[in-house]
Amino acid sequence: MIEFNVNPGDRGYRVRVEGGAVAHGFADALAVLPPGPVAILSDSNVAPLYGEAARRSVEASGRKSFAVTVPAGEGSKSLEVFSRVLGEMLSGGADRTSSLLALGGGVVGDLGGFAASTFMRGIPFFMAPTSLLSQVDSSVGGKVAVNHTRSKNLIGLFAQPAGVLVDPAVLSTLPAEEYASGLAEGVKAAAILDAELFARMEAEREPIRARDPATLEAVISRCLRLKADVVEKDERETKGLREVLNFGHTVGHALETALGYGTIRHGEAVSAGMVAACRLAERTRGFQAGETARLETLLSFFGLPVRLPAGTDPGRVLAAMRGDKKKRGGALRFVLLERLGRAGPAEAVAEAQVLEVLRGIGA
Ligand SMILES: NC(=O)c1ccc[n+]([C@@H]2O[C@H](COP(=O)([O-])OP(=O)(O)OC[C@H]3O[C@@H](n4cnc5c(N)ncnc54)[C@H](O)[C@@H]3O)[C@@H](O)[C@H]2O)c1
Ligand SMILES: [Zn+2]
Repeated sequence: MIEFNVNPGDRGYRVRVEGGAVAHGFADALAVLPPGPVAILSDSNVAPLYGEAARRSVEASGRKSFAVTVPAGEGSKSLEVFSRVLGEMLSGGADRTSSLLALGGGVVGDLGGFAASTFMRGIPFFMAPTSLLSQVDSSVGGKVAVNHTRSKNLIGLFAQPAGVLVDPAVLSTLPAEEYASGLAEGVKAAAILDAELFARMEAEREPIRARDPATLEAVISRCLRLKADVVEKDERETKGLREVLNFGHTVGHALETALGYGTIRHGEAVSAGMVAACRLAERTRGFQAGETARLETLLSFFGLPVRLPAGTDPGRVLAAMRGDKKKRGGALRFVLLERLGRAGPAEAVAEAQVLEVLRGIGA
């Protein structure tokens, strides 16, 4: 078991990473919650697998619980489902002494954090992330939201959880593509912030790919600690410090837009995006080609793409980046590596260079 505190602003919380915690029980970690009934929010895939175990932990902590289950998938991050969740919380007997346990991936975490933060002007929520993406990334950071029909994550707020419990053992049931997609964000954290973690991921790539809980305990807690270090210094994303977390995301988001949302997984798009960013860094800041090769080797080993999907038009990807740039009212912005473990923003990158790089990794 690995535990550490996250202290953004004035409200801190504890993160526990423990293989097997869901099955064995984590009642003691729930002591931070108020005494009232706990709404266990989960989705239609995760609830049948781990809902009962979570219920046992909540009840063992001396609290009543009731289940609120939403359909699996991004579609549940909607105002309609949000409203339904609030209604079910009322019917379940939730009041101002209640709290919410978000048991699921990033969708449940974002929806649950938002629902808890708005229910009766806000009740505490506890994160029990079950997808790798939510375990290495979204459960820490304090951002919660639902989507507007016109824009992802448009309706949301900054809100810190009361606590986080990560159990790598539950990843055994995660579909392979979801697992790989989550690994992309883990590799990202290492690439931008921690060369030692990157080397460790290379050395332990076999047990990582095999989802060995003991190996993952160490790797996941390091990824979360790295993210926590960044968000502690820039809780509300006002200082630009969080920007490094967008490594691989300029091209990644553009790929998602150009190919159409849902065609490519976020982590897969980020994977190809990180390779593109490294190629760009080779051209603009002397990043070593050998380091790009290490990144590509690791991503490929984890089953992640290091090229644009076959038939992708680089021009369309660039056009999507321009659209994004317009939204931000500035130049094309990239996060580039100086070396593995060290990243910084690069402004005013020439479009011609970006296009060349995209052509270079085109299929
Ligand atoms: N708040 C943040 O800082 C932040 C950061 C990154 C991403 N996000 C958000 O996270 C969401 C994506 O998260 P995600 O990739 O976890 O998606 P998700 O929550 O949809 O989970 C992916 C799939 O895996 C299933 N699943 C989850 N855990 C499982 C398990 N242990 N066993 C079997 N199946 C399991 C889910 O039911 C779902 O079908 C997006 O909405 C994104 O905007 C938020
Ligand atoms: Zn991401």
